[in-house]
Amino acid sequence: MQYTPAVDRYNSMTYNRCGKSGLQLPMISLGLWHNFGSIDNFENGRSIIRHAFDKGITHFDLANNYGPLAGSAEENFGRVLKQDFTGHLRDELIISTKAGYLMWPGPYGDKGSRKYLISSLDQSLRRMQLDYVDIFYSHRPDPETPIEETMGALHSIVQQGKALYVGLSNYTAEQTKQAVEVLKSLGTPCLIHQPKYSMFERWVENGLLDVLEANGVGCIPFSPLAQGLLTDRYLNGIPAGSRASKPSGFLQENEVTPEKIEKIKKLNAIAQKRGQSLAQMALAWILKDKRITTVLIGASSVAQLDNNLETLNNTTFAKEELTEIEAILA
Ligand SMILES: NC(=O)c1ccc[n+]([C@@H]2O[C@H](COP(=O)([O-])OP(=O)(O)OC[C@H]3O[C@@H](n4cnc5c(N)ncnc54)[C@H](OP(=O)(O)O)[C@@H]3O)[C@@H](O)[C@H]2O)c1
Repeated sequence: MQYTPAVDRYNSMTYNRCGKSGLQLPMISLGLWHNFGSIDNFENGRSIIRHAFDKGITHFDLANNYGPLAGSAEENFGRVLKQDFTGHLRDELIISTKAGYLMWPGPYGDKGSRKYLISSLDQSLRRMQLDYVDIFYSHRPDPETPIEETMGALHSIVQQGKALYVGLSNYTAEQTKQAVEVLKSLGTPCLIHQPKYSMFERWVENGLLDVLEANGVGCIPFSPLAQGLLTDRYLNGIPAGSRASKPSGFLQENEVTPEKIEKIKKLNAIAQKRGQSLAQMALAWILKDKRITTVLIGASSVAQLDNNLETLNNTTFAKEELTEIEAILA
């Protein structure tokens, strides 16, 4: 069916400035790690992407290896762009991809060399049928490659017009500081950092967020719902079709522990008192920190996406609520 984007798509979303850059990102961004690969239903993925855009989500996050099969999320996203995002709609989208994890065999398909990053982005562009991406990331630090080489590759990619901005993912506070300095010296500022951050994974609070703020770098936390744990998905066991139930999913069944479920139930009770779903409260809890530019969610259905979008109606917390949450997470 022919897609015409909603005319009111910019009415309800809030856009935050990314660090000290000129770029604004929607408070909620959509990632294509799970649910958009060749093993998934293409039309379901397509409807999630279209719906996201209708609701003001302009930012879509990919990586070379998303699928499975690795590369297929980029291929499917390219198909959706070609079919639905015609005309000048590309100019209304912020598309990111990454390289850093194993993608192809041999010494040039993994980690942080100039050879890998540049050839991987060329492959990503072909899969998505794009001339450029908006943001290209070094997906993880590679201590065996000089930071100057990895950052030099990001700089070259921007100079070549293959990416407009660059970012870092999974770099520690110290590694980030070094990388940001090298990028600055090259004249290509670091736009954004993509770390794992949720109520259950709080390492960024111990230094990284300070480094980002001090350097004017934005922050886009991934897996803010702890891959679905911080929702009502697992309150009564592991349902069929959920990420933890799938062999291809990165959330393992043994991560859904009785201790976690107990915490989730207590958090869920607070969310209910706030008149929110647990997912909404978990996203709001991250967005309350003004150093966060946007939260990067995943979704397996349009209904989940809609539920998450309602977060924006209440992102503030009373002091007592925060204290109660801290006590549960401790
Ligand atoms: N840079 C990196 O190293 C890195 C690593 C991982 C992810 N990422 C990025 O971050 C994105 C998000 O990661 P993620 O998918 O793990 O994020 P997430 O938002 O923590 O988890 C998404 C999953 O939670 C469940 N869910 C979402 N909304 C729900 C709701 N309202 N109610 C009930 N369940 C809900 C769904 O699980 P079901 O499938 O069970 O329905 C969904 O697939 C990825 O797509 C990727 O772009 C980056």
